[in-house]
Amino acid sequence: MNCYLQNWIGGEWIDGGAGRLAVEDPATGEPAYEHACADAGDVAMAVASARACHARGLLTRMRPIERGRLVQAMGHWIAERTDVIAETLTHEQGKPLWEARNEVVNACRYFEYYGNQAALVEGRSIPLGASYLDYTVLEPYGVSAQIIPWNFPLEVAARSIAAGLATGNACVVKTSELTPCASGCFAQAAEAVGLPTGALHVFTGLGPDAGAALASHPDVNQIVFTGSIPTGQKIAAAASRTVVPCVLELGGKSAAIVHDDADLEAFETDVRRGIFVNAGQICSALSRVVAHVSIHDELVDRIAGVARSLSIGPGLELTEFGPNMGPMISAKQRDRAVDMVAGAEREGVAVVTGGRRPNLPGHFMDPTVLSGVEPGMSIAQTEIFGPVISVLRFNDEADSIRIANGTRYGLVAGVFTRDLDRATRAARALRAGQVFVNEWFAGGVETPFGGFGKSGYGREKGREALMNYVQTKNVAIRIGES
Ligand code: NAI
Ligand code: MG
Repeated sequence: MNCYLQNWIGGEWIDGGAGRLAVEDPATGEPAYEHACADAGDVAMAVASARACHARGLLTRMRPIERGRLVQAMGHWIAERTDVIAETLTHEQGKPLWEARNEVVNACRYFEYYGNQAALVEGRSIPLGASYLDYTVLEPYGVSAQIIPWNFPLEVAARSIAAGLATGNACVVKTSELTPCASGCFAQAAEAVGLPTGALHVFTGLGPDAGAALASHPDVNQIVFTGSIPTGQKIAAAASRTVVPCVLELGGKSAAIVHDDADLEAFETDVRRGIFVNAGQICSALSRVVAHVSIHDELVDRIAGVARSLSIGPGLELTEFGPNMGPMISAKQRDRAVDMVAGAEREGVAVVTGGRRPNLPGHFMDPTVLSGVEPGMSIAQTEIFGPVISVLRFNDEADSIRIANGTRYGLVAGVFTRDLDRATRAARALRAGQVFVNEWFAGGVETPFGGFGKSGYGREKGREALMNYVQTKNVAIRIGES
């Protein structure tokens, strides 16, 4: 029998109103765990408990520096268990074990970073002359609902849990039904460090059931979501009815512009990290390369070389950083990516390498490089969310910006050149929430992240993110005759 895990609601480990769901190992397609599956009733319990925590001021009456210490302690608790948590993550999500370890480490950084800032969420005083004292206070919204995807279940949950708790919100977290297991660590950490009851709930359930119930719950005050555009639209529609703000992070189709003076050898590392880590299931993946005509052919060869150098296999066997890649999350996601590549091939795109599912059990796809991709093609417009990189070509700078900006998305973008003027011109012109110059994924927990266009709104990470979790109260005091 597989290991069975429960939901953490109201300060207790409980079974699910919707029974149990089987969690698959993407490397085999076989069930790996069973997890309690929440229904709308469980969601109502979680929100009620969070509401009670907020009403009693269990987080908000605490001195912020003390609250921040609890947030940091959660990160320390998790960090001490990195190996075992990473193993669970790989087992349910597929990514190589070394990537899973990195994910746990990065998740812990959010607790460190935001825990440190709990005491820095300061208002200001506004001069109104001698007869008034006026100041602002940044108050938490109250109950923060967080709906988490399966690609980086720990990092994405950590960034909203840590920022939400640091600012004094009671957090209700619905993890993805595909990857709920490793996320139990947040609840265990909360329990271990003595976070007040009701301050954190972590459970899984199906999107249209528990997810929809959470997004539309009238006692939720703020919603954070990362995932697909259609689901983001449903959540925003629900939030419009309850009149609560959302943060939506909805993926991208991000481009790296590679100029003729770029360091092409170094760019191989960007490709390796940008599209083949997590089998390309990254919202900010380097999914398009826009290459100057003069270096286009050499670049295609180099990128294909990176793809061909990767071995693929079960994540639990891939323990050390190296040329390797795990499976995709599900047969559905893998088949979708393979079909998209086949469709592009029919439109005349060249499959330089990959494009197929290898002869392995599990949801693997070969690392794939496409060239001859035209900007308007569906393969250049649609998020694939797999290990597939498309190479397009440009003639001049204006052309490169037009192609890079030519999708409905705008999450991140990159420019690779030794010319600082050219890089900063591109940074101004690129329509994206974050621009990388000469290193894809430069930045970190400290740097604000989020979309332009259909990539969403609001920012995660960095100090900006804290502002999503607080609302301004102005206190205007008449203090007598001047
Ligand atoms: P999804 O957006 O449907 O799922 C993400 C989360 O939303 C899960 O926790 C799910 O249970 C929940 N959810 C689903 N329907 C819901 C509803 N009606 N109300 C409330 N919550 C709901 O993403 P899915 O279907 O797993 O993946 C499809 C595509 O979405 C991928 O191919 C990829 O393009 C994109 N995606 C983007 C991510 C990103 O990092 N921006 C992460 C995951 C998926
Ligand atoms: Mg879906």
